[in-house]
Amino acid sequence: FQTPLLIPPVMPRARTAKARGGKPIDVYEISVRQFAQQILPAGLPATTVWGYGPVAAERANDPMIHHAPSLTIEAKWNRPVRVKWVNGLVDASGNHLPHLLPVDPTLHWANPPGGTDGRDMRPVFEVTPDAYDGPVPLVTHVHGAVGVGDESDGYAEAWYLPAAADIPPGYATEGTWYDFVAAKASAAHGVEWGPGFSTFQYPNDQRESTLWYHDHTLGMTRLNVYAGPAGFFLVRGGPEGEKAVLDSRAGTAAVLPGPAPKQNDKFPSDKRYFEIPIAVQDRSFNDDGSLFYPDSREFFDEIVGDFIPVGEFSPIWNPEFFGNMLIANGATWPYQSVEQRRYRFRFLNGCQSRFLILDFSDIPGVEVWQIGNEGGFLAAPVDVTADHGGRLLLAPAERADVIVDFANVPLGEHVLRNVGPDDPFGGGVPGVDFEPADTASTGQVLQFRVVPATAPDPTTPPRFLTLPAITPLPQESVTRPLVLVERSGAGFDANGEPKEGPVEAVLGTADGGVPVEHEWEDPVTENPAVGSTEVWEFVNTTADAHPMHVHEVAFEVVDREGLVRDAEDPEDIVVPFEPDGSVSGPEPWETGFKDTVIAYPGQVTRVRATFVNPGQFVWHCHIVEHEDNEMMRPYRIGPEQP
Ligand code: C2O
Ligand code: CU
Repeated sequence: FQTPLLIPPVMPRARTAKARGGKPIDVYEISVRQFAQQILPAGLPATTVWGYGPVAAERANDPMIHHAPSLTIEAKWNRPVRVKWVNGLVDASGNHLPHLLPVDPTLHWANPPGGTDGRDMRPVFEVTPDAYDGPVPLVTHVHGAVGVGDESDGYAEAWYLPAAADIPPGYATEGTWYDFVAAKASAAHGVEWGPGFSTFQYPNDQRESTLWYHDHTLGMTRLNVYAGPAGFFLVRGGPEGEKAVLDSRAGTAAVLPGPAPKQNDKFPSDKRYFEIPIAVQDRSFNDDGSLFYPDSREFFDEIVGDFIPVGEFSPIWNPEFFGNMLIANGATWPYQSVEQRRYRFRFLNGCQSRFLILDFSDIPGVEVWQIGNEGGFLAAPVDVTADHGGRLLLAPAERADVIVDFANVPLGEHVLRNVGPDDPFGGGVPGVDFEPADTASTGQVLQFRVVPATAPDPTTPPRFLTLPAITPLPQESVTRPLVLVERSGAGFDANGEPKEGPVEAVLGTADGGVPVEHEWEDPVTENPAVGSTEVWEFVNTTADAHPMHVHEVAFEVVDREGLVRDAEDPEDIVVPFEPDGSVSGPEPWETGFKDTVIAYPGQVTRVRATFVNPGQFVWHCHIVEHEDNEMMRPYRIGPEQP
């Protein structure tokens, strides 16, 4: 606990402009750059990472403003944000920078060397950790953005290379969807496109909520995001925003803890903030400070024994990754000074595969209330201390908007712990035991240094908060069973010959309760009509919990239900699968709207969504290692596009 917690400053706007039709919009120019950041404590080496930052900072030569995680985009409700996303992974002479991490070219990935004809094909070349040292494809997705046109959603095949001077001949410089989204975005918004960047526009006419933005490139999201590019994107305002939160004692507007950083506040922060976003991620490092990410299958083998034999299959990809250190807002184990009063923290689990259970129970006198999740405010504040043991469960990509009251916490140092496991969340069914994280490392998140309050706390006690009413979605017209299955994966050997690969989880549909597997490149199977409401049933037949994320919509969690198990072997789900009648409703922190939901093993998890905007989007598991290897599927709202 040597480094102060970084409170991410606000991403500077490039300018404001008028959209077609005259609506004012906020315009940003944001690049991804490579730089060194002190993630480890001072005195240890700095780490080379990538991060988003304003293009203007590059011109001003400000090395500090690109950061991982990156600056917070502050969006106003119903006011579009337009971003020119620049792939700036080039060196000082304009040549490409290679990836910081080993790319596995046997997955279905962006594959620039495949060229424009074969760019979706798995390539055939010798597979070594540095097999791919070419330019890095990127494309940004705003996670949780609702009602975004598919031209702006960051489709995994709309990636593009930097405009580098040395792109090898024959390389594809863009993914197969790039031309389509470029043409559609220019037509829809009149925005600028060109080599090395894309311009996306977000309407922000959704509920006030905590979103985040990160890279989403096909087959390499895990690597790109691990290298750094991710940040918060907050939507504020509107009829279901903070101003609509009431103090139940008087029926007047409530006061939530603030302020948060604003445009043009100094960097690093020179003010006291009482609303702070906190991204928790796991990382490992080499002795020289560089990021460690496995370059062979041996890594996973060490964790889980001989579950998956080490072989030449998917020679680099690992089914999950667990870093041995936790970082919060880009530094290992930081501390935050807090006054004896209420704070609002927006937690994001930005880990690769790790489920976090943030544990406040060691902090005497603390009170924790959850007021929001991915889709904005909950139906009612949840008393985490009294009703849930002071613990917050967060799967990868989930967010928790919480009020933490330090008023009765003794002065001094207190640790926020993580009691989630250091391995796959196989025992993730509520009530089933698992081994918590190492108490000396990944079992600790950050330290609060409690100091006396400098002024009376003006905020409303959370028990008196009346959160904005939730408007339920209409009744569904379609119920769609979707299956999570484990299979022995398909692999390719060094000669490009197909061979049987390691166990991997994939997605599918169901035919009378029998799973039908589909891969990324198979035709769309989920095709809701424009304006329709559907229930999607995530039927998890695998051994692990998977956080399922659907782009473009915010969904209601309907319920969960067990699946009938084999009488002889209760580990096994009976196929054709069948729900067993043991239904449980959403958890109190899953009320309102979400974009990511935990699908527990041996259960069906049901969500309801209304599909408004035509276009092609994706749904996937947010364990990014899974997402990169066939645990992602395209889906389409409305008719096929040209
Ligand atoms: Cu957070 Cu499809 O992503
Ligand atoms: Cu998964």
